[in-house]
Amino acid sequence: MKRFEGRTAVITGAGSGFGLEVARIGARKGMNLVLADVQQDALDRAAEELRAAGAAVLAQRLDVSKGAEIEALGAAVAARFGAPNFVFNNAGIGAGGLIWESTLKDWEWVLGVNVMGVVHGVRVFTPMMLEAARNDPSFEGHITNTASMAGLVNMPNMGVYNVSKHAVVSLTETLYQDLRLVTDQIGASVLCPFFVPTGILASDRNRPAELRDAGGLSKSQLIGKAMTEKAVGSGKVTAAQVAGFVFDAIENDRFYVYSHPNALSGVQKRLEDVVQGRNPTDPFASRPEIGASLKAALRAAD
Ligand SMILES: NC(=O)c1ccc[n+]([C@@H]2O[C@H](COP(=O)([O-])OP(=O)(O)OC[C@H]3O[C@@H](n4cnc5c(N)ncnc54)[C@H](O)[C@@H]3O)[C@@H](O)[C@H]2O)c1
Repeated sequence: MKRFEGRTAVITGAGSGFGLEVARIGARKGMNLVLADVQQDALDRAAEELRAAGAAVLAQRLDVSKGAEIEALGAAVAARFGAPNFVFNNAGIGAGGLIWESTLKDWEWVLGVNVMGVVHGVRVFTPMMLEAARNDPSFEGHITNTASMAGLVNMPNMGVYNVSKHAVVSLTETLYQDLRLVTDQIGASVLCPFFVPTGILASDRNRPAELRDAGGLSKSQLIGKAMTEKAVGSGKVTAAQVAGFVFDAIENDRFYVYSHPNALSGVQKRLEDVVQGRNPTDPFASRPEIGASLKAALRAAD
């Protein structure tokens, strides 16, 4: 997809981080913006800023894990702008800890938002775009789903997140192949960022009360949180740069979108493990001090 002006973008998680930065670029390119987020105040601020920047904005508060709410968004988008040209299924949350310590509520929350949110976006908007493509040979569309480097490797002590992001990579690779079977007018990309400073560290702010555990975080979850805080906090690539990479990928029909291509050696190691039937390589082999301190922290007596 090469042209953006006058075309419509649907962005989930538009109130912060990558979603907000993609919306800002969309506004600069003259796109109509559909902003969706679960956090009302962040959504209101984003809508106000982007309207002031001159964009036509439809802002809708919703929880992407709820199918009916994305279906209602689809109806609202159809009524206001018609089929979208660009859909950014991006809303997501971070969580960690040893995989057996993730509670049922942890699994429901993380898979609900990170996986089912993308499922709903694809299931609601792709048919709208395909219909538009059938009716108009000049229609161009693109769907970008936000996964993570955690969708391509499996770092320990963040299992629930890894599972969710591998699912998004799988879903999006399949989406790409399925689209190629039926149309040349709609493309797909998967965004796989490494650590980038955004609001992700405070994901708990939007955790619904019914999916919270009374006991709070376990020891491994607290350790994982501290490690992620350090890694995200020291990230040098900005969310605005990542949003730029998203648009570059759309314009150049590139599927995999990375924030830190230099971090792909871990992916290569993993895929070599897979094809050679080798046991999973120690992810801390090149930084043994990090692995050693994680082990020490987890094995220390309470
Ligand atoms: N920042 C990173 O280092 C990093 C790395 C890899 C992947 N990601 C992914 O990037 C995506 C965007 O996250 P971010 O880093 O910009 O974080 P962020 O917290 O700044 O933005 C996420 C947005 O999603 C919204 N959101 C959360 N739950 C929602 C729900 N149920 N329904 C609708 N909206 C909801 C939040 O309110 C927030 O505005 C996520 O999918 C995340 O997993 C982030």
